[in-house]
Amino acid sequence: MTTSELKNKILQLKKETNTVILAHTYQEPDIIDIADITGDSFFLSKKAAEIKAERVIMCGVRFMAESVKILSPETETLLPVPSATCPMAEQIAPERVRKFKEENPQAQVVAYINTTAALKAECDVCVTSSSAIKIVDKLNAPEILFIPDQHLGSYVKARLPHKNITLWDGYCPVHAQLTKEDVLQCKKDHPTAKFAVHPESPKEVVELADMVGATSEIIKYAKETPGEIIIGTERGVVDYLALHEENGERFIQLSPEKLCCEDMKKITLEDIYNCLLGKGGESIALPEDLRKKALVSINRMLELG
Ligand code: 13P
Ligand code: SF4
Repeated sequence: MTTSELKNKILQLKKETNTVILAHTYQEPDIIDIADITGDSFFLSKKAAEIKAERVIMCGVRFMAESVKILSPETETLLPVPSATCPMAEQIAPERVRKFKEENPQAQVVAYINTTAALKAECDVCVTSSSAIKIVDKLNAPEILFIPDQHLGSYVKARLPHKNITLWDGYCPVHAQLTKEDVLQCKKDHPTAKFAVHPESPKEVVELADMVGATSEIIKYAKETPGEIIIGTERGVVDYLALHEENGERFIQLSPEKLCCEDMKKITLEDIYNCLLGKGGESIALPEDLRKKALVSINRMLELG
């Protein structure tokens, strides 16, 4: 079957089976093409809460499929490739959070959305990269533990000096590889370019940026800002901009060899087709008490963010 035949079959089957396909912007362009809804973590969570479909196929990583299930328990939620996980989502054990809360009963625990459902169930509120500053600023607690991303956490902490924030030592293995030298070299090659970066990047990189933001914010900035823009995030964003904007060549990928998330790239059109045929993928199942606890943290994020 050619790619376009496969895409047509997927489009037809998804209609026949009342299935909605969600895709994070980091997915390959062919997947973005057949998805019903595309966006960053916060946008996809908001949409997941509104979905009225029999089945959702989540093209992203496991925590995103879990978020859909937490928000829409009646909807069958499929992750096309069960091994597609975000390594950062498991960088702290739920028991450690429980222990911290027992020892610090006044404190609040803030979980980046890139966490497992089991971790979300132990936390007070979730945040995404686009909502973290706003939400943490609204928390009224003498101490805040921010898990798991130290880089997003330190970005938030630097902007909210009046808050007492303790950081965990987790990190995104993709963005954390970036160095100051990577940026300086790219700026040398593109001397008039502006630089936009994701806050999962190290401080020394973030300090060189003209704009820091989540996937959707980087896309908005890149569209609205004339001239060359160096994009410091996973390369799906440049693929997306190149396809959806005129003069796509003005978007410059920073460190293309580093900024590729293998987990985000695991899903193929064939995997989605197999899910639609009922022959593949994992149907996400969560214990109901855990789901309800995790829902409290996500709902609080949706309210405050
Ligand atoms: P966004 O919140 O920008 O979608 O980021 C998700 C993610 O996994 C970044 O690496
Ligand atoms: Fe996780 Fe980083 Fe991949 Fe995002 S880019 S899914 S944070 S490993």
